[in-house]
Amino acid sequence: MQSIEERIQALKRERGAIIIAHNYQPDEVQAIADFTGDSLELSRKAAELEEEIIVFCGVHFMAETAAILSPEKTILLPDRFAGCPMADMITADQLRARKAEHPDAVVICYVNSSAAVKAECDLCCTSSNAKAIVASVPADKEIIFVPDTHLGHYVQEELGREMIIWDGYCPTHSRIRDVDIQREKEEHPNAVVMAHPECPQSIRDMSDQLLSTGQMCIYAKESDNKEFIVATEMGLLYRLRNENPGKKFYAVSERALCPNMKKIDLEKVLWSLEDMQYRITVPEEIANKARRSIEAMLELS
Ligand code: 13P
Ligand code: SF4
Repeated sequence: MQSIEERIQALKRERGAIIIAHNYQPDEVQAIADFTGDSLELSRKAAELEEEIIVFCGVHFMAETAAILSPEKTILLPDRFAGCPMADMITADQLRARKAEHPDAVVICYVNSSAAVKAECDLCCTSSNAKAIVASVPADKEIIFVPDTHLGHYVQEELGREMIIWDGYCPTHSRIRDVDIQREKEEHPNAVVMAHPECPQSIRDMSDQLLSTGQMCIYAKESDNKEFIVATEMGLLYRLRNENPGKKFYAVSERALCPNMKKIDLEKVLWSLEDMQYRITVPEEIANKARRSIEAMLELS
C-alpha cells in the first residue's frame, strides 16, 4: 500500500500541480513541499511558477496574494479556515476611515492583510523588505502603516521616520516573553538571538538580529556562529536544523506556535489535490487594485 506521501506525490504529478509551503508549516508538510519560503519568497514563487495548480500550504492571506498575482491559476488552500488573526485586525472600511483623516498619506500594508485592505494601499511589504519599502517614500510624505504595530514601530525606529501605525499584532509572537529570552541566553551564552520583527519591542531590544524567516535561514547558514536562539514560530526550526546539521537551534518558547499554520496536515494536502479544494479567488475589481500594491513591492525589493 502506498504511503500518504507517495499518494500526494503521485496525484500531484497527475494533476500537474506544485506544493509550496510557508516556513511555519508542520514538519511533515514542509517535507513534501516542492518549495518552502517566507512571505516574500512565496509571493515571488507564486508569480513565476509555470504550474497551473498551486497547493498553498500557509494561511489565507498568502493564498490570496498568490491568487491576486496569478488570477488564471488554481490556488488551493488545504484548510479554508487557516486565517491570520493579525490580518483580521483591520478591515477595508476601517482603513478607508483612517485614510480620510490623512488624505495625502502614502498607505503601506504588511502582506499579512486581506485583499480588500491591500486594494486600499499604495504599497505592500513583508518583514524582509519593510525598511526598504518605507524608505522609498519621499521624506515629505505622511505614511499610514497597517496592520502590525510591532513591525511598524521597528521600521519607524530603524529609519527615524514617524508613521501613523495601526495597532494590530501577531498573537503568536506576542506570546514570547522577556523571561523566555533571558532564560535561553543564560543557558546558551554563546548563542546569537534571532528574532522576528513581529515580536514586541522588549523582545526586539534583547535580540541580536531582527530578520524575516527567510533571512534567518540565510543568516544561520552564512554565520560562523554555531548556536542560535530562535524567537519566532517554532515551525522554522525544522528548516534551520535540516539545512545546518552542524549547528544548534534553541526554540525560545513552546508557546510560539501559530494554530492557523498548524491546521494543515498531510491528509488535508491529499484531500486538497483529490477534491481540488479549497480554491481561493479574489473579485476582479479588488484583485486589480491589490495587485498594484504587491507589484510595486516586488519591483522595489
Ligand atoms: P515571514 O515568513 O515573511 O518572515 O512572515 C512571518 C509570518 O508571520 C507570516 O505570517
Ligand atoms: Fe498570522 Fe502570526 Fe500566524 Fe503569521 S504567525 S500567520 S502573523 S498569527
